[in-house]
Amino acid sequence: MRDYKAFVKFSKPGPRYTSYPTAVEFSKDFSYEQYLQILRQQSKDLSLYFHLPFCRSACYFCGCNVIYTSKDENKERYLGYLFKELDLLEKFTNTKRKVVQMHFGGGTPTFFSANQLQRLIEKIKSIFVNFDKKAELSCEIDPRFLNEEQTKVLTENGFNRVSFGVQDFDERVQKEIHRIQSFELTQEAVNLVRTYGIKSVNMDLIYGLPLQSLKSFENTLKKGLELDPDRFAIFSYAHVPWLKKNMRKFNEKDLPGPNIKLEILEFCEHFLGENGYEMVGMDHFAKKDDELFKALKNGSLHRNFQGYTTKKGADLLGIGLTSIGEGQRHYAQNFKDMPSYENAIDNGSLPFERGILLDFDDELRKAVIMSLMANFSLDIKGVEARFGVSFFEYFRKDLELLSEYKHFYTVDKDSLKVNETGVLLIRNLAMCFDKYMKKLSEEKKVFSKTV
Ligand SMILES: C[S@@+](CC[C@H](N)C(=O)[O-])C[C@H]1O[C@@H](n2cnc3c(N)ncnc32)[C@H](O)[C@@H]1O
Ligand code: SF4
Repeated sequence: MRDYKAFVKFSKPGPRYTSYPTAVEFSKDFSYEQYLQILRQQSKDLSLYFHLPFCRSACYFCGCNVIYTSKDENKERYLGYLFKELDLLEKFTNTKRKVVQMHFGGGTPTFFSANQLQRLIEKIKSIFVNFDKKAELSCEIDPRFLNEEQTKVLTENGFNRVSFGVQDFDERVQKEIHRIQSFELTQEAVNLVRTYGIKSVNMDLIYGLPLQSLKSFENTLKKGLELDPDRFAIFSYAHVPWLKKNMRKFNEKDLPGPNIKLEILEFCEHFLGENGYEMVGMDHFAKKDDELFKALKNGSLHRNFQGYTTKKGADLLGIGLTSIGEGQRHYAQNFKDMPSYENAIDNGSLPFERGILLDFDDELRKAVIMSLMANFSLDIKGVEARFGVSFFEYFRKDLELLSEYKHFYTVDKDSLKVNETGVLLIRNLAMCFDKYMKKLSEEKKVFSKTV
């Protein structure tokens, strides 16, 4: 959903907030029966995504699928439905497969109490009985909603990664985005999870928010660095007020323009580079000893709806409202509104709303786009061998489009490599291979900007 098509098509897939060209489009042709058939046949390792959609109050920039509530009974009710969805999944797919990855995303997963999180994890482990010892278990955390008991529950159950939502440390910006979160509060949360043994800490920041400038973001990034996260996710603010009412609170005149955003991104790359981080895939920076960085270097970094990962090839099951699952040849999304979600489960069906079956062209384009966005390079010979096509012939028109960006990559018969500046424009480069995005831009329906 990179700020355009997929944002609209998937409306916040998976846990890591990001939008990008995907080369696929949901279609009504993919039926529930076909989905069940795929589930029954699946045999790969598993990656699980749980969507925990509740938040206490609205951050005005937020583009995630969120339900604002103060009532505990809403969360209890939702937990009950998640449990039933898990029981249904046990009927329809092999849940004895090895789980190599699990992510709690939101909303704010830690808006659920320690007791609720514990019950959820126990239920999950009673259905998915084969968690790999080295499984990557991660949770998104809003530092304003984290206590010691929750941290204990997560770590005692093997969670080894957390991602903190920070966005910006500048008080003026925080006021504008309706998210007051002091540096000290974030620091306490980071210290707490580290005390309990979490080794991998990610921090989310957003550039492009109202009142931000290069100077203000420099300060934010410097403060962020003081907390020494293992990874930064630095997202470009996707402004889609026609889809998200909360964004209408902003005065658009206060939003920094594309030039400032590009300056900020360049600054992030240089500043983090000087401080031991490297850009790993779009929006992400990791320390050089991080496994994502190592994977980038050996070309094995992969991207799915969980974000960047080294766990290539697992079947992703999306569980909960709006969640998206992904297999080699399909995507499947759950209902996005609570009544339909509950209704399906009450009727004994998985809450599947729609999906996509990938045809040959979709699959080929997906492979090209994912490789560019994960590894900033493409093994052309590898693609030709895997798909039995002549790359330069098959993508003749796409390559013409790409040539607009000729200063940002090099290409020969074996490979395509994006250069340092091109990395900052990777969405634009990857978009050249996305036929659905092209269709949308031709129809002048490109939904938000790329920088
Ligand atoms: C589900 S939220 C994070 C968890 C938690 N609710 C929090 O805010 O701390 C995931 C991340 O999405 C990012 N995000 C949300 N809306 C965005 C938007 N419109 N543009 C870019 N990033 C966005 C934020 O960085 C946020 O931390
Ligand atoms: S707390 Fe996170 S999910 Fe909730 S509104 Fe704010 S950014 Fe969105």
